[in-house]
Amino acid sequence: MSHVRLLNVTKRFGDVTAVNSLNLEIGKGECFSMLGPSGCGKTTTLRMVAGFEDLSEGEVYVGDRLLSCPQRNYYLPPEKRNFGMVFQAFAVWPHLSVYDNVAFPLQIRNFPTEEIDKRTKDALRSTNLLNVADKSPADLSGGGKQRVALARALAINPDVMLLDEPLSSLDPHLREEMRFEIKDLQRKYGFSIIYVTHDQAEAMALSDRILVMKLGVVQQIDTPFDVYNKPANKFVFSFIGLSNFLDVVWSDDKAYVRGETTALPLSLFPPESMRGSEGLSLASRPSEIDFVSDEEADVLQGVVSRKAFLGEIVDYQVKIGDQELRIQKGRRTRGPELGENCRLRFSRPFWYSGNA
Ligand SMILES: Nc1ncnc2c1ncn2[C@@H]1O[C@H](COP(=O)(O)OP(=O)(O)OP(=O)(O)O)[C@@H](O)[C@H]1O
Ligand SMILES: [Mg+2]
Repeated sequence: MSHVRLLNVTKRFGDVTAVNSLNLEIGKGECFSMLGPSGCGKTTTLRMVAGFEDLSEGEVYVGDRLLSCPQRNYYLPPEKRNFGMVFQAFAVWPHLSVYDNVAFPLQIRNFPTEEIDKRTKDALRSTNLLNVADKSPADLSGGGKQRVALARALAINPDVMLLDEPLSSLDPHLREEMRFEIKDLQRKYGFSIIYVTHDQAEAMALSDRILVMKLGVVQQIDTPFDVYNKPANKFVFSFIGLSNFLDVVWSDDKAYVRGETTALPLSLFPPESMRGSEGLSLASRPSEIDFVSDEEADVLQGVVSRKAFLGEIVDYQVKIGDQELRIQKGRRTRGPELGENCRLRFSRPFWYSGNA
């Protein structure tokens, strides 16, 4: 059953359409992430759901309850929406104790004193902060401060948690740890999450579904598996995971990697529907290209122009025609040396024409 629903939500700032006709349904207890380049409209979307930003058009619902609808001039203020929010900057108040930081939103909602105490302590316990309740958040580490922000959002027992890059100011190790903690808290409290991040690994690890957005327009909404394996277009392919694109040109009805004099092998021939098309590219993942032996026919050939040992993997750059291809292999796989010719087999080529 859908829990949060956005219908044709649009937001314009003057000439800029920050969010363009967004339709979205998020299930109860679902963890839903929004990914996309800077300025694509993620924060604006979250702020509209939270009630900090008006809509230009459209409607936002939680269950059957209408939250915002400019056409009907209806708008429910943020404090009546029962959403927890955590933003990128820690946004904790250093002049209040950890306890008071968490209790504050309950106080302004006029909860009875015993209820405030119970909820505050529960939230502090869940985030392992009970033993520092009397300290100032200024004395805590980055992860500690972020926990205070989480505890404060948890204390109101939210229906939905809105998280806007909540971990981006933490170091990678702590980020990973906090990621799991957020997931555990979700299991315990049962809220839905709308999570905004730049970090695809974070989105993949946390989410039931991911939305990929570009310039205010949805490109794809799918499970992490499908966004990675069945990208809706070239943009999604390039945005999720590592990607290679080789420009392919046509001559006498044969396809060539641009700058290369040998035509593409049959195993890599573009689909019939793209025959002769302009702006054609052969897309691939660096881990989905294999080095094959000299006996293998029907392969693409190149020269290793860079080879870097990265620990578990070896990262190659291979020159084909006037273009470069990145290939990554496990350190146990035997690969060519710098400057050597190599023969390549693509286990999963994707084709795109134009900018689609
Ligand atoms: N208050 C505002 N006034 C004018 N333009 C705004 C305002 N807020 C956002 N925008 C514009 O709306 C677009 C979307 O911005 P938004 O902050 O939602 O992007 P974002 O996806 O969160 O980016 P980032 O990843 O950098 O946080 C941008 O073009 C931005 O400049
Ligand atoms: Mg943002």
